[in-house]
Amino acid sequence: MTVSESARPGAGTPSPAARFSADWLAQREWLDGRSRSHRLTGLAADWLASRSGGRGGPLGIVDLGSGSASNLRFLAPRLPGPQRWRLVDHDPALLALARRHGATLRDSVGDRLAVQTCCRDLSPVDEGLLADADLVVASALFDLVSRPWAEALVAASAARRQALLFTLSVDGDWAFLDAAGHRIEDEEDIAIRTLFQVHQRRDKGLGPALGGSAPAVLAAAMAAAGYRLESAATPWHLAAGDEARLPLAASLLQGWHDAALQLVPEEASRLEGWRSRRLAGLTAGELGLTVGHRDLLALPPAGGA
Ligand SMILES: C[S@@+](CC[C@H](N)C(=O)[O-])C[C@H]1O[C@@H](n2cnc3c(N)ncnc32)[C@H](O)[C@@H]1O
Repeated sequence: MTVSESARPGAGTPSPAARFSADWLAQREWLDGRSRSHRLTGLAADWLASRSGGRGGPLGIVDLGSGSASNLRFLAPRLPGPQRWRLVDHDPALLALARRHGATLRDSVGDRLAVQTCCRDLSPVDEGLLADADLVVASALFDLVSRPWAEALVAASAARRQALLFTLSVDGDWAFLDAAGHRIEDEEDIAIRTLFQVHQRRDKGLGPALGGSAPAVLAAAMAAAGYRLESAATPWHLAAGDEARLPLAASLLQGWHDAALQLVPEEASRLEGWRSRRLAGLTAGELGLTVGHRDLLALPPAGGA
């Protein structure tokens, strides 16, 4: 195993809207792992295995917006080797955690990985971002990026005949669940969800953000580039009464509240009433929640290099 790092001058000063705490990423990792599509992971593994048969050397995998390497931890043991990873993020503290994690991981046959971290912005979409990759992966990233950035990424990857596995892109939906797991919503839930969706589209540094339209925009770009596309709904479900996950549910509720408050500060007291009411339901084990996500796998058309 080798672990190395590189940084672009000026990297490492992410804007606050594109900054994620290590605690939050750790909190969501378990739920991400439970929600992701194992079918699409298996198809990506099969594609990589067929690719490695045709040439020597390790398989190159680039993880865009890697954070502290949750995607690497999920994928490495499920993909064939030898694997050479490059983790790209603009947050040096998260990348330091990623290097620590990367040092302990193995591929699907138990061999160690080569892991390099690269501290830089995801823009521009250039050779430094995509070089030497067979598979480009990203998880929980695309709500933050703009349409032009996403389309440029898909086109540049298609030109290199790289496969794409983009997981856990939010689709803008969330709702509370009753104790039987059925979706419930009242007028306040709907109004606050609409505000949250507007907030999601604010610029996070890469242009007006896609928010919940990310899965549809990506799928259209992949189809236009000639990719074979596989898609799976991968919602988060937190059941009512799941005490272990109450902190995560409360964080989500707080995030929805805070986003809405930024847009309509004059409605602070109504929003606080809603937050307290829904938190009481979660805490009493009467409510769960669901958050819509989608995984996409794009494979280059058969034939060619
Ligand atoms: C929601 S987190 C997801 C992290 C990781 N993929 C995971 O699933 O845990 C989004 C990640 O994208 C990174 N990011 C956001 N905007 C970026 C940009 N413009 N350039 C580089 N990294 C960026 C953040 O630092 C963060 O680590």
